[in-house]
Amino acid sequence: MPRFQAPRGTQDILPDMQPYWAAVNNAILEVTRLFGFKRIDTPAFEDARLFEKGSGDTTDVVEKEMYVFQDRGGDLLALTPEGTPAICRAYLEHGMGSWPQPVRLYTTHAMFRYDRPQKGRYRQHTQFDCEVIGSADPLVDAEVIQLLYRTLELLGIKTGVVHLGSIDDPGPRRKYVEQLKEYYRPHLDKLSEDSQRRFERNPLRLLDSKDERDLPFKEGAPKLVDQLSPEAAAHMDVVRQALEAADIPFVIDPLLVRGLDYYNRTVFEIVPEDDERAQGVLGGGGRYDGLMELLGGPPTPAVGFGSGIERLILEMQKNGVQVPEPPKPDVFVVHRAEGAAAVVTKVAGGLRREGIAVVVGETGRSMKSQFRSADASGARLAVILGEDEIAKGVAVVKDLRGGGEQREVPLADLAQAVRSS
Ligand code: HAM
Repeated sequence: MPRFQAPRGTQDILPDMQPYWAAVNNAILEVTRLFGFKRIDTPAFEDARLFEKGSGDTTDVVEKEMYVFQDRGGDLLALTPEGTPAICRAYLEHGMGSWPQPVRLYTTHAMFRYDRPQKGRYRQHTQFDCEVIGSADPLVDAEVIQLLYRTLELLGIKTGVVHLGSIDDPGPRRKYVEQLKEYYRPHLDKLSEDSQRRFERNPLRLLDSKDERDLPFKEGAPKLVDQLSPEAAAHMDVVRQALEAADIPFVIDPLLVRGLDYYNRTVFEIVPEDDERAQGVLGGGGRYDGLMELLGGPPTPAVGFGSGIERLILEMQKNGVQVPEPPKPDVFVVHRAEGAAAVVTKVAGGLRREGIAVVVGETGRSMKSQFRSADASGARLAVILGEDEIAKGVAVVKDLRGGGEQREVPLADLAQAVRSS
């Protein structure tokens, strides 16, 4: 029989890593409470066309990375590669347009992308995703950036830098896209095959390429933030002022376009300060006022971001953040009571009913070996049930952490004794 392994690019989250996940989930609960977001959960898979239309069929995410499959009924489905189109689909499907606007939603969701696995880049990752749907207010853009930044602060990550850009609206952007094509045209034969192909259909994608062959040309490309329409420029000014007022450090990143097609105006990423090539982006998002219409809904402005929880945890570790240890049992029951399973079970059950965490030693193992397990479990106390104790209706409570004092306690008083020991 072959030994099975987790599929490439996926990972088991073992118990010793769970405190980090708990810390992130607690921070998410707190920060979404502070900013007034409500939780939504969408399915693990959706109609594949939702992402082809929504995320864009010339994006890496859809073109190269999406897990697409036909189910037994012949439907073409995709494992969710990103949350935004799925949440917009739910917004339309459930008539959230008639709720008080804007609707502030968040989720944590497994995302699937057939990417080349490396540190911080996986084929299954978990995303903290926030979306504000139904507002065109630039203050909301600044709020979602603050929300992500505050999450990092709560997690003790001091190394995140906000990169802010604007890619204007699709109409005024056309002139810029022509300039971009003029700039790239003479270099076309030196670019990657993907970029050559995207040059006609979606030239903005060239700025987002991760291919080594494309990177040298990015630096000199014309910059969209220098020629924004008055509306987009005014929008960006408000976002900047709000971030300054909120004491969020940020840099303007004139070539930030992001890897998905739906963005207009605000785009942003939070990048670790030592990550020049932006390989480990901690989170990113922006405004997407046109997406809802693309999906067949009414015009509905929106803005949001996604942040990879695995990357947040790597960054917490890089920042030396300590997380609370997982709780240990209060009591380890050491017993040598062949045929006394009922007493052991009743004692453990009674303590648990009182809210006391109990682990029971294994029947048939020596007292010495059970005490070793008790120490390894980190339990504060051992409750010893030997034959004599059981016969007398008592247990011996032994301190495992201090000096090892022990005392005999009637079974009826055991919970009280554990609590006061
Ligand atoms: P995205 O930039 O594709 O945006 O992903 C958001 C974040 O998810 C990234 O910044 C990164 O932290 C994490 N991430 C992405 N891919 C991987 C991977 N292969 N392994 C580990 N972590 C990864 C979106 O998905 C948009 N839906 C964000 C958004 C929401 N825009 C507006 N609203």
